[in-house]
Amino acid sequence: MKDNGIIIYTAQGGDVRAAERLAGLTGAHVTAEPPDKTRRELCVAFTEGGVVLSGGGMELRADLSKMKPRLRRGNLNFEILIRAAKPGALGEAPSALDATAGLGEDSLLLAAAGFTVTMCERDPVIAALLRDGLSRAASDPELSDTVGRMTLIECDSVELMRKSDTYFELILLDPMFPERKKSGLIKKKLQLLQMLESPCDGEEELFCAAYAKKPRKLLIKRPAKGPYLAGKKPDYSITGGTARYDCYKCDNTTG
Ligand SMILES: C[S@@+](CC[C@H](N)C(=O)[O-])C[C@H]1O[C@@H](n2cnc3c(N)ncnc32)[C@H](O)[C@@H]1O
Repeated sequence: MKDNGIIIYTAQGGDVRAAERLAGLTGAHVTAEPPDKTRRELCVAFTEGGVVLSGGGMELRADLSKMKPRLRRGNLNFEILIRAAKPGALGEAPSALDATAGLGEDSLLLAAAGFTVTMCERDPVIAALLRDGLSRAASDPELSDTVGRMTLIECDSVELMRKSDTYFELILLDPMFPERKKSGLIKKKLQLLQMLESPCDGEEELFCAAYAKKPRKLLIKRPAKGPYLAGKKPDYSITGGTARYDCYKCDNTTG
C-alpha cells in the first residue's frame, strides 16, 4: 500500500471496531473530527451509513446495489466476463477464485452466474470498503442469495494460491493497470484506488501462481488494447467495450 498519510474517521453510529482494526493494520491515525473532503490525503470514514473513502474532492464506497440492472437475467449473459467464464461448461455450482477482488463487482457477476466465489483482497482499506459493501448487500433481498455465495479473504492471493490445496474451476485476475498520464481520462473510482494501490508489481508471480493451480480456466482482465499480463499469450481473448478477457486453458479440457 502507498503511504498517503491516510486518516480514519469514526462518526456517530459508525463501526468503531472495524475502524480500530483498520487503524491497527495500516498504522493510520484515528480521529473523531469530520474530514475535509477537499483535502488531497485519503480519509476512510466509518459512518452509520457505511464505509466511505474520500480524497481530493472524490468519494468512493462499495455499492453493490448499483450492479442490480447488470445482474438481471437477459443482461448477465451478455456481460463479457460471463461470456468468457462460460459457467455452464464448468459443471454445477463451479468454484471461482477472484484473486484481485477490489470492490467486488466482478465477483458479484460471477456469483450471480452461479459460481461460489472466494475473493482475495490484500489492501486493508479496499478490503474494509468491500466488507462493508458485502454486508449491506447481504441484507438486500435482491442480492442476499448471490452475496451468500461470496467469501472475502483479506490476504495476498499469490501466497494463498501457493499454499492452499483448494481447487478452483476458474481463477480471475484483474490487477491494477499502470496509471494513465492524463488522469482526467480515468474514472474517479480508479483515481482513488490508484492513490491506495500501486499498479501490479508482481505480474509474473501472480500469473505463475494462478496458472500452477491448474484451474480449468484462468481469466485475466486487461484494457482492450493493453499488453498480456506478464507477456503470456492466452489461448484466446474476448473483447468488449474497453475491456478484454484473456483466457488460458490451464488443464486443456475446457472450451
Ligand atoms: C483493478 S482492482 C480489481 C477490481 C475488481 N475486478 C472489481 O470488479 O471491483 C485490483 C485489486 O486487486 C488487488 N490486488 C492486486 N494484487 C493482489 C494480490 N496479489 N492479492 C490480493 N489482492 C491483490 C488490489 O489491491 C486492487 O484492489
